[in-house]
Amino acid sequence: MVEFRQIIRNEEILDPNWIPSKILHRERELREIKESIKPLFDGRRAANLFIYGRTGVGKTACVKYILKEIKEKSDVAAIYVNCWENPKQHSIFLEIARQIGRIFPSKGVRSDDVQEVILNYLLDRKSVLVFDEIDKSEKQDFLYPIAQNLMKNSCIILITNYKEFILSLDERVLSRLMLQNLEFKDYEYEEVFNILKERVRLALSPRVMSKKAFERIVLEAYKAMDIRVGLSLILNSARIAEFELSNQIKEEHVEKALEKLSIKKEPKLSEQEELVYRIIKEKKEIWAKDLYDMFVERGGSVGERSFRNYLRKLEKYGLIEILGEKRRKIRLR
Ligand SMILES: Nc1ncnc2c1ncn2[C@@H]1O[C@H](COP(=O)(O)OP(=O)(O)OP(=O)(O)O)[C@@H](O)[C@H]1O
Ligand SMILES: [Mg+2]
Repeated sequence: MVEFRQIIRNEEILDPNWIPSKILHRERELREIKESIKPLFDGRRAANLFIYGRTGVGKTACVKYILKEIKEKSDVAAIYVNCWENPKQHSIFLEIARQIGRIFPSKGVRSDDVQEVILNYLLDRKSVLVFDEIDKSEKQDFLYPIAQNLMKNSCIILITNYKEFILSLDERVLSRLMLQNLEFKDYEYEEVFNILKERVRLALSPRVMSKKAFERIVLEAYKAMDIRVGLSLILNSARIAEFELSNQIKEEHVEKALEKLSIKKEPKLSEQEELVYRIIKEKKEIWAKDLYDMFVERGGSVGERSFRNYLRKLEKYGLIEILGEKRRKIRLR
């Protein structure tokens, strides 16, 4: 009899809120965050940051990783507020108060009083204050007293998906904060591969994930440009495999997990890639040479080399197949 192997070893590691002890492929971003905070430790002014990038590209993970380090290694107050969970000024202040150990009842307290307690506490302390999902806060007025009073000894970090959000901030706040931009760019395919590989290694028993199943998961996460999609597929396909008493996660388990995935996302294509893809969708099958001619005819404006790169990307996304070596034929998948 085949011995049944447990597939999931530590489910918690596949939770998107789990903070990895090793952040991969974000060396530059981590360095920039650290550099902007560093002056605080030397009694100088820190640079404040405006962090933006698409969903699931590691913004929260990187910042939380650094806050954890600050908490462990220094007496700088490290405060993290998620403005989606706390959209009102009042709840933002209550949350900051809670994190500095001043617990107020959730009702019957004046916002001004909470604000005063917070400011008094932070005025003569060094602090890093992070406001994640800042665009989800109802108003950003709460930033004004913070920027006004705590500029000398705090570092303020705002995080959002939208680069343009900065334009909607009050000028008085902007001129006090002097935010520096930090963009989190999309991951490359290999980066998604490595990040998910590490999670699989930590969360699952050894050798339970088949190569095909894993590659499929990476592809789906890459197409969606969201590591969370990958984590969810790893967890759900592992559960399905366990339920079916399989020893291994196979591609069919990933297929089933995919059907259940609530956030289905279309891959993000550039305008030019979209144009190439539309022609292939129309023709179903076409010689590469003819495709290129049609592409140029319809306003495509690149050399053959970039064109080949577009095809390679569409192939990587699993949208098309490239057949043959010299005279290549392109087929819709
Ligand atoms: N470079 C990385 N190394 C390890 N894990 C990562 C990395 N990037 C993202 N992750 C993991 O992917 C998941 C999503 O990342 P995170 O929550 O940081 O995304 P985000 O950019 O804050 O997205 P959102 O804009 O939706 O809040 C988390 O579980 C995180 O640990
Ligand atoms: Mg986040």
